[in-house]
Amino acid sequence: MRIAVVGGTGKEGGGMAIRWAHAGHDVFVGSRDAERAKTVAIEFSREAGRTIRGGSNAQAIEASEIVVLSVPYSAHTSTLQELKTALAGRVLIDITVPLQPPKITSVNLPAGQSAALEAQAILGAETPVVAAMHHVSAVHLRDLSHDIDCDVLACSDDKAALEQAMALIRDLGVRSFDVGPLRNAIAIESLTPLLLHLNRQQKGRSVGIRITGA
Ligand SMILES: NC(=O)c1ccc[n+]([C@@H]2O[C@H](COP(=O)([O-])OP(=O)(O)OC[C@H]3O[C@@H](n4cnc5c(N)ncnc54)[C@H](OP(=O)(O)O)[C@@H]3O)[C@@H](O)[C@H]2O)c1
Repeated sequence: MRIAVVGGTGKEGGGMAIRWAHAGHDVFVGSRDAERAKTVAIEFSREAGRTIRGGSNAQAIEASEIVVLSVPYSAHTSTLQELKTALAGRVLIDITVPLQPPKITSVNLPAGQSAALEAQAILGAETPVVAAMHHVSAVHLRDLSHDIDCDVLACSDDKAALEQAMALIRDLGVRSFDVGPLRNAIAIESLTPLLLHLNRQQKGRSVGIRITGA
């Protein structure tokens, strides 16, 4: 599948890009700075053992069937508003956790209740939003020599978009679970500060979540 990662030059998006390319997908890393993305894409291609392209966020979306949004919450609204037209008709996987640094171990409910709900409100029905990947550490993603020790919870109001996104997420080497409507992103996103709190207790190790009995 042709995948764009908006903000793919960063930690989480970069790991996803490398793993998807390694799994055989056609990945395009997007950035506010096209030249930076091209440089980063060369490094990622080496790690993935397969070509990853780089360019502006708009170019990445243009070249893709499905898009991942991987920017800090502080840039979430402005990035979506800027890219809204380009995103129309594509599925968006929103991995944003609405953290409020420096209080990253406390739950922050944004004005729209969750980042994914805010994304859907900005983009409208033309662009179905899937919320997922909030509990997978960038450290786990980036190291291809290690399995990812974490399950993924995914939700959306669009069943077809959710199934498409979940199939893709499984190609990262994780189990993926449908946990219902997009409103449930409020709970999914709110779990991440708890994991970050545990990370601190674990002296920097990255914890994950597991669903049992399924
Ligand atoms: N890190 C994790 O372990 C993790 C785990 C789960 C979910 N997440 C979520 O994934 C998202 C990305 O996290 P990250 O750790 O990868 O972040 P990051 O590395 O700090 O940033 C990702 C990319 O966002 C772009 N960006 C930064 N500031 C921006 C701005 N003001 N406007 C537009 N773009 C901007 C940058 O790309 P350019 O400068 O190239 O445009 C940057 O490379 C966040 O929403 C986070 O909550 C992260």
